[in-house]
Order: sequence, then structure tokens, then C-alpha cells
Amino acid sequence: MLFFTFFIFYLCEAMRDLLYLAPLQSFTDFHFRNSFQAVLGDVDRFYAPYLKMAFDGTIKEGPKFDVLPQNNPLEKVVPQVMACCTADFLVMANYLEDLGYTEVNWNLGCPYPMVAKRDLGSGILNKPDKICSILEEVFRASSLKIGIKMRMGYEDTSDILNLLPALNEFDLTEVIIHARYGKQLYNGSCDHSRFLECIPITNHSLIYNGDINSVADFRYLKQLFPTIHQWMIGRGAIANPFLFEMIQDDSELLPNDFVQVFSDFLNLLLESYLRQTTNHGNILIKMTHYWEYFAANFENGKKMCRIVKKSKSISDYSNFIANLESFI
Ligand SMILES: Cc1cc2nc3c(=O)[nH]c(=O)nc-3n(C[C@H](O)[C@H](O)[C@H](O)COP(=O)(O)O)c2cc1C
Repeated sequence: MLFFTFFIFYLCEAMRDLLYLAPLQSFTDFHFRNSFQAVLGDVDRFYAPYLKMAFDGTIKEGPKFDVLPQNNPLEKVVPQVMACCTADFLVMANYLEDLGYTEVNWNLGCPYPMVAKRDLGSGILNKPDKICSILEEVFRASSLKIGIKMRMGYEDTSDILNLLPALNEFDLTEVIIHARYGKQLYNGSCDHSRFLECIPITNHSLIYNGDINSVADFRYLKQLFPTIHQWMIGRGAIANPFLFEMIQDDSELLPNDFVQVFSDFLNLLLESYLRQTTNHGNILIKMTHYWEYFAANFENGKKMCRIVKKSKSISDYSNFIANLESFI
């Protein structure tokens, strides 16, 4: 009987969809990821925001610190790099390998013009030859596994139709597609018809990303893409950190104990920042930025956000968390 129960459990685990937290610079840092993991769970992998090179040829300090092993459960975290040449890619890949990581994600999605015009992020998507030659050289020189997170193009969503077949030559772990093009930034809608076209032309494990903000969105996309079993969620999961659990439970209702769990999460997040810095002003600004997302989840969200913005001290903010129930 026990064996049978375990068998059913593992069968269900093997059959369920996998859910990943997207990298969001300034939001999904190790403070957020670890607090999330401690009380909310239900995330199969966390992707860390990208490492990039500074102009002096060293890796930028903030993201470098974010991926340190003492701050991360390495087996659940995939670090990311943004590079447009082999040399830069390898500097960052070697750093990550030395830290103990076994996989790296290549950012081919960043949409900002200042980045894109230097062939970084989504700016390189119309140059499949350049992408392939970087991949060839990095595969030759590094033993890290490589996955890609990409938009569908920079000017429009057509670049991906040339790029995906070219990527089939490489032993990538996965291809994550944010179903927009770079110039859209975060505006407009995702191009679901183009994503459907991508499915038959890749032999890689495909992950859908873009605008999954509710259980209803997830259900819609799942029936639209029945062969996709891996999903990455960013802004929707910051606004509602229970979204992963609700998707796995196929329930549109927040869990009964959500106020307690959310308070625990907020306290852990705050404590984690307090351990890193004594600059309380900066921490309060950070909390305000998070609350601009969290607010969407509450009827009184705008009022809650205003209170957080007006917090003059960490104890003001802690009192607000302690009284969360009274706002709901
Ligand atoms: C503030 C912000 C920061 C982001 N930082 C990164 C990043 O570091 N690396 C990356 O690949 N994507 C980054 N993204 C894109 C997200 O990972 C994700 O692809 C995008 O938000 C679409 O997914 P969503 O609709 O579920 O949020 C960022 C997005 C936002 C809004």
C-alpha cells in the first residue's frame, strides 16, 4: 500500500507542469527568492537577474553578489548572463562555474534601446550567425550547460523563425520565449500565434513566458499550447506570490491562511534586507517598489501602497505588516 501511495505521488509529480520564477532585476534578488522559497514554495526553479560586464572589463558587483553560493540554494537557481561576445560570456561563465553552478542562462531578451543597439539582449536576435558563433565558442571553452531566454525578435516577432532552426544545432538545456518583440518593451500583447509557430520548428525544451497574471490566464494558455508543460512567470507572481500555488491547485481562490503566510513572507524579506544593509531609507524605497506590485492583489491596494510610501522608519513598516489583516 505504501509503495502504491509513493508510486501515485511520483506519477503526479512527474505529470504536473513545471513553474519557474522569471528574473526581474531589482525585484527577484536573493532576498526575494529565499523568502519566497521559505514560506511560499511551489516554484521549480528561480532564475537570477543577469550578470553583465562593466566598462572596465570586470563583472558588475551587484548581480555578482546576488549569485554567491552563501545566498543561494544552487540546485534551484539558474544564473543569467547578458553578453554579445564570447570573451565577456566566458568571463561570467567561468565566474559562475567557480561558484559551483552547472548551468547558465543567456539573456537574449532585454529590450532597452541602449542595450539592444550594442547587440545585447534582444538587439542580437536578428543576427543568428553571430549568436551561433558565440554559442559554438562558448560550448567549446566552457563545460557549463547553456539555456536561452529570448524575445521573438527586436523590430517584430519574425526573427525567431530564422533563429530557432539554427539553435537546433546546439545542445541547449531549454529555450524560454517571452512572446513579445524587443521594441514593444512591456507594452501591447504577447504574440500567441507566433509562439504556436515556434513549437514545431524547435527540438529544444520550450518554456512559455509572458503575461501569466492569474489562474484564468494560465488555463487559457494551457489549452492554447497543450504540448507546453513548462511556464515562467514574472510580474504576475510578484503581484500575487500565491499564484504558483493557485495554479498547481487549479484554484482561483487565495489560500485560507494567505494573510499569515504573506505577513511571514514580508517579514522575512525585510529581515533579509536588514541583514545586508543599515541604510533603512533604501530598504523602505525597495519595499515601496514591491508594494507597487503587491497592491494589485488587494481591494485597498492603493491605500496600502500609500501607507508604505509614508513609512518613515522600519518600525512604521513593521507595524504596517503586523496590522495587515485590518486592511483586507
Ligand atoms: C523590472 C523588470 C526587470 C527584468 N529583468 C530581467 C532580467 O534581469 N533578465 C531577464 O531575462 N528578463 C528580465 N525581465 C523580463 C522578465 O523576466 C519577463 O520575461 C517579462 O516580465 C515577461 O514575463 P511576465 O509577463 O510574467 O512578467 C525583467 C522584467 C521587468 C519588468
